[in-house]
Amino acid sequence: MSTAKVDLHRLARVANTMIVALTVGSFLAGLYISFWFHFLTVFFLLLTVINFFYRYVQTRHTILRNFGVIGQVRYMLESLGPELRQYLFSSDTEERPFTRVDRAEVYRKAKGIDAAVSFGSLLEYGPTEVKLRHSMYPSPQADLEPFRLTFGEERGIENCFTLTKPIIISAMSFGALGEPAIRALALGALQSGIAMNTGEGGWPKHHLEEGGDLIFQMGTAKFGVRDGEGMLDEARLRELASLPAIKMIEVKFSQGAKPGKGGLLPKEKITQEISDLRGVPMGKDVISPPYHAECRDHASTLAFIQRVQEVSGLPTGIKMCVGSLDEVGELFAEMARRDIFPDYIAIDGGEGGTGAAPKPYIDSFGMPLLPALAGVDQLLRDLGIRNRLKVLAAGKLIGAAKWVMAMCLGADAIYSARGFMFSLGCIQALHCGDNTCPVGIATHDKTLQHGLVVEEKAERVKNYVEGAVHDFEELLCSIGVTHAGALNRSHLYIPPQSILAGEAR
Ligand SMILES: Cc1cc2nc3c(=O)[nH]c(=O)nc-3n(C[C@H](O)[C@H](O)[C@H](O)COP(=O)(O)O)c2cc1C
Repeated sequence: MSTAKVDLHRLARVANTMIVALTVGSFLAGLYISFWFHFLTVFFLLLTVINFFYRYVQTRHTILRNFGVIGQVRYMLESLGPELRQYLFSSDTEERPFTRVDRAEVYRKAKGIDAAVSFGSLLEYGPTEVKLRHSMYPSPQADLEPFRLTFGEERGIENCFTLTKPIIISAMSFGALGEPAIRALALGALQSGIAMNTGEGGWPKHHLEEGGDLIFQMGTAKFGVRDGEGMLDEARLRELASLPAIKMIEVKFSQGAKPGKGGLLPKEKITQEISDLRGVPMGKDVISPPYHAECRDHASTLAFIQRVQEVSGLPTGIKMCVGSLDEVGELFAEMARRDIFPDYIAIDGGEGGTGAAPKPYIDSFGMPLLPALAGVDQLLRDLGIRNRLKVLAAGKLIGAAKWVMAMCLGADAIYSARGFMFSLGCIQALHCGDNTCPVGIATHDKTLQHGLVVEEKAERVKNYVEGAVHDFEELLCSIGVTHAGALNRSHLYIPPQSILAGEAR
């Protein structure tokens, strides 16, 4: 079957000849018909000069050298491609990383429109789809026990921290996100009674302004609590941990979008304030080291965790993306041997998001969340230490059904980052790294931040939390349990072809 094909070469030859012909034609028309044609002459003359420049002077772009101004159309279409695909051509279930169906659900909840959908599911019902199992005898709503998860209780510390909702705003640094977005999230978290992770953005100045519960993240560069050599400054950590809003400390080892690599903040996004809060120079990409200098093996890692626990006096967790379950299993065994445990471990799936990361890392590293979570839970059980720490999970968990699935596989509570970005109005424009986020979330450009009104968006965050927690409670009832802690693998339908089918031991 023959397909219609655009002969660009021929098209360009015709266009380039036409431009010259039109220049001459309009010049003659200006001389013999009306003076006004000279305006056209100027326009076509300009095109001729640009065309000459593209074809014979510049040497960088092959397409422009070969095709002249017509080649420029290709560049224009290419740059508009993502928008054209998103608005005109992609189906509701096609977009990546999140489909329109997924995003629309968050938008609806954030706006407080919790309408039912009609006719049938738009999602796959294929041979690998994991589904929740309902019970023939759902639990009455009245029997549901309030959600409570207390960090630090295993060590019997004084400053335990209790979650009363299953969801936490996952780490997104001030730097990756701009000030209004951080403040809207922090205020929304306060209003909805959930905690927020600060991300590795240094001293959490803007988070603290809003007054909610915070988990301070210490990345490998230790922004906010680093000494002159980039090592932990204990006095600074002690000072930070003494602030009433700081409830827990999280030592970040890796994140799903770039495991094995440190954080990256492109120079375009480094303002004077960010440079001050992180203690880094302006005008240069900020690249954090891929590991904590204090942690070079399991023993030194555990010693460091214990040191942070002692200095801060707070529940202290770790965040990582799983590369090898064998390696993580060895770490757990070392924990059991030394009787040193973080208060939680947060598992970030390889599908996790980021403000900026090199493409090979985003695409090719990191176990996907659900098998990693199932594997970690099983390792902890095998060692008899599942009751020594909590497990958190992150990785595209943007609705209650996904939260429940993760909990069935071992999560005690859920981290979400991009779900909360959607609640702020993120349109998945994929411009988080170049400071041009069109909805003012992942940018420090004041003209783009203008559209993001903190109080308005905080309300959306609160609506999203309330709507999703409501769904979560309904799902627990339908499954036939009365509290999240009762969820387990048997509440999932896992078809034999699923990636999860082999994970149970
Ligand atoms: C804009 C952005 C910035 C992020 N910054 C951090 C960070 O500072 N520290 C970190 O551990 N993870 C960071 N993450 C990863 C998230 O915390 C989370 O682990 C990951 O995106 C998976 O959750 P999600 O699928 O709900 O987004 C960031 C993610 C995004 C989208």
